[in-house]
Amino acid sequence: MTELHAIDAAADAIRAAAPAAAPAVGIVLGSGLGAVADAVTDAVDIPYGEIPGFPRPGVASHAGRLRLGTLGGAPVAVLQGRAHAYEGHGLADVVRPVRTLARLGCGTVILSNAAGSLRAEVGPGRLMLITDHINGTGLNPLAGPNEAALGERFFDMTSAYDAGLQDRLRDAARAESIDLAEGVYYWALGPSFETPAEIRAFRTLGADAVGMSTVPETIALRHMGVRVAAVSGITNLAAGMVAGSALDHAETMTRGSAMAGELARLLARCLTAWPQPSDRT
Ligand code: HPA
Repeated sequence: MTELHAIDAAADAIRAAAPAAAPAVGIVLGSGLGAVADAVTDAVDIPYGEIPGFPRPGVASHAGRLRLGTLGGAPVAVLQGRAHAYEGHGLADVVRPVRTLARLGCGTVILSNAAGSLRAEVGPGRLMLITDHINGTGLNPLAGPNEAALGERFFDMTSAYDAGLQDRLRDAARAESIDLAEGVYYWALGPSFETPAEIRAFRTLGADAVGMSTVPETIALRHMGVRVAAVSGITNLAAGMVAGSALDHAETMTRGSAMAGELARLLARCLTAWPQPSDRT
């Protein structure tokens, strides 16, 4: 089966379960950030298990549910939880849910994740707008034969994170009095956290935050011509930055939940008066 067939089958199952939904904006909620979905009104939920080809996220508290509804003024499709490459999922599986959202009509997708900060002044609890990324894994969801029906073999990544969407998110943060940091996200495969030496190396390379997701989704969405924005919820200072402290996943989950309310306000504000003429693709 081609990937186009796979995402068509998934999109058909979603349309059958929610015939009235016509999502224009996709949202992916990262670790601990699932509660953003509480802000969605007129919600219809579809468990990933009822959508063919959707991988089951294995990480605790990734709900594994698609929520269709309205956020701000936009019809949205919210993926509550994602599969990660470090769980052993192939990258085609990892990106299938976002490709399906694109196939359903989402011309814009906003990704979120939990991340460690490489900058002491951007501490836990801050949201960070991702302005660019570094793929530190050497993996790419598009390695292999190109499916021309999805996109071109070679495509530009100069503006992977859409400038207009970044401006909208900056404006929304200002309106909501949210202190939005900005920076470059480094994709590390995980599941082990980084060593202090790796963190120093990533900082030298130009990274501001590190996490284990998002980049493959950005790549697959840009391949399909979808506009992408992404926001990290900073859950911790990266390895070695706080003397005598160790990293653990429980901290990621607790900090993530604390930020979910702020992220919900940011996204709802960003999506009011949607679409503007410049938002149409
Ligand atoms: N490293 C990688 N992924 C993460 C981190 C981190 O420090 N925090 C949350 N996700």
